[in-house]
Amino acid sequence: MRVLITQAIDPAGTAILTDAGLALDSRDDPHPIGSDELRARTAGCAALLPMPTDPVDADVLSTPGLRVVACHSVGTDHVDLDAARAHGVVVTHTPGVLTDATADLAMALILATARRLGEGERLLRRGAFHGWRPTMLRGLDLHDATLGIVGMGRIGTAVADRARAFGMHIRGTTSASSRDDLLELLATSDVVSLHCPLTDDTVHLLDSPTLARMKPGAILVNTARGAVIDEDALADALEAGHLAGAGLDVHAAEPRVHPRLLPREDVVLLPHLGSATWQTRRAMATKAATNLVAVLQGRTPPDRVV
Ligand code: DGY
Repeated sequence: MRVLITQAIDPAGTAILTDAGLALDSRDDPHPIGSDELRARTAGCAALLPMPTDPVDADVLSTPGLRVVACHSVGTDHVDLDAARAHGVVVTHTPGVLTDATADLAMALILATARRLGEGERLLRRGAFHGWRPTMLRGLDLHDATLGIVGMGRIGTAVADRARAFGMHIRGTTSASSRDDLLELLATSDVVSLHCPLTDDTVHLLDSPTLARMKPGAILVNTARGAVIDEDALADALEAGHLAGAGLDVHAAEPRVHPRLLPREDVVLLPHLGSATWQTRRAMATKAATNLVAVLQGRTPPDRVV
């Protein structure tokens, strides 16, 4: 049986697949796979191991003989889950193993944005540091600041644990919270960190009206999915000086960064690094491969979504 892997993964994952006697089509191209290539290469495969931004749409899921899509991510917003159900394709993901790495990165982005690390480094490298000045690059004290966590799930809770060690006060919402709860969190938080999945309910959750409810001078951090923020509205809020900055690991149209955010000094930008540690990527590859093999061997996969 044939498996398409759309990007090179940790060898611990490929070893599980080859030990199970599977034939691998391992794509090794730094660019994301497009819809046409994904559709063409899935033909003849019993399993697909996609990355979090690969468009696993209804056409891909209708591929004859396709039995499982084993996502190399906890997020499954790139998969048409209704189409998977309709075509009887099992979908799995990788919960739990990336919680700490992603929470660490969110905390790093909170610190980098609040303390203007990107701006400081760029200033130094271009030779513009002329000596210590009391008014240079002042940022936000995290101690005694309020952190609003939108999405108090596994990762949000792990961020809260870290932030408490920095003396921050925590507020949080879950998928059960009302819109009023969200607005209250936005109005009272100095830093807002997004940890909700991307669903029909959370697309552009942070748009012009909700961004306007954030405290003046607050900071917005996103390690969830880019489309949770209306990036045009964020650029407006930064340009207007309503927000002090943003820290973004994820972008609505990855790998493209919004052209109005790219040049901004007050925005810290990362290339979707939340889970990017050796240990976590090994654990994700292992989990994805274990789920995939379980389905092809007729067993229940540990992390089934559909
Ligand atoms: C996920 O697993 O959904 C992450 O975005 C990958 O880092």
